[in-house]
Amino acid sequence: MASQRKFFVGGNWKMNGNKASIDGIIQFLNAGPLDPNTEVVVSPPAIYMEYVRGKLDQKIGVAGQNCYKVEKGAFTGDISANMIKDIGCEWVILGHSERRNVFGESDQLIGEKVKYALSQGLKVIACIGEKIEEREAGKTEEVVYRQMQAIVDNVAPDQWANVVVAYEPVWAIGTGKTATPAQAQEVHQKLRAWVAKKVSEPVANSLRIVYGGSVSAANCKELGGQSDIDGSLVGGASLKPDFVQIVNATQ
Ligand code: PGA
Repeated sequence: MASQRKFFVGGNWKMNGNKASIDGIIQFLNAGPLDPNTEVVVSPPAIYMEYVRGKLDQKIGVAGQNCYKVEKGAFTGDISANMIKDIGCEWVILGHSERRNVFGESDQLIGEKVKYALSQGLKVIACIGEKIEEREAGKTEEVVYRQMQAIVDNVAPDQWANVVVAYEPVWAIGTGKTATPAQAQEVHQKLRAWVAKKVSEPVANSLRIVYGGSVSAANCKELGGQSDIDGSLVGGASLKPDFVQIVNATQ
C-alpha cells in the first residue's frame, strides 16, 4: 500500500446470509475494533441492504452487489442506483466476475452501469480479472486492459475519486488459490502504469486498486504490504469474524 491512498477493504457477501446470520456479522463489525485508517464497505444481498444500513455503524459503508444502468422501468428483478441511494447506501460493486461469467454481462454493459451509477452520485467498486485459461495463454494483460478500457471510457476526469478498482483473477475467487503477493503486485503495478498512460499520472497515483480472490486473515498482511495493492475485496472470509483482521491488515 502506498501512503497517499487510503487502504480499502470491501466485504462481498454474495448470495449468502439470512437475518440471523447477518445480525452476527453486524455484531462483529460494530464491535471491531476496525482500523480508522481503513475504509470499510460491506455488500449484502440487495434485499438486506436497508436492514444492514439501519444497524451497522455509520462509519462502515454499504454497497449494492450490482445495479442496472437506468433510473427505473420495466426491468424485472433488477434494482437501480437511485434505489441504492434512496435507502441511504452510497456504493455499488459493478462487473464482478460472477456477473460477467454466470450472468453474461459484457464489458460494454458494465461500462454503461459504471457511467450511470457515478452520474447518480454512487461510488463504484469496478471489478476486473482474467480466467485461468486466459492467464495460461499469456493474455492476462490484454484481458484486464480491455476490461479497464470499458470502465475508463465511462468515468469523467472528476469522478475518479469515486472509483475503486478490484483486480480479481477469476481462478482465485472462492477457490482458496490466492494469487501470490508477487503475482498480484505485478498486475496491479501494470494496471497503474496503464492508467497513468490512458488517464493521467495523478489519477494513477490516487486510484485505489484492491485485490480480490481468496483473501484471508492468513494472507492479507503480505498482500496488503505490496506497494500497488491498496486493500482487498473479500468474499467468503467477509462472512466471518476473520474479516476484522483483514480490515486491520496494515496495523
Ligand atoms: P472470495 O471472493 O474471497 O470468496 O474468493 C472474492 C470475490 O468474489 O470478491
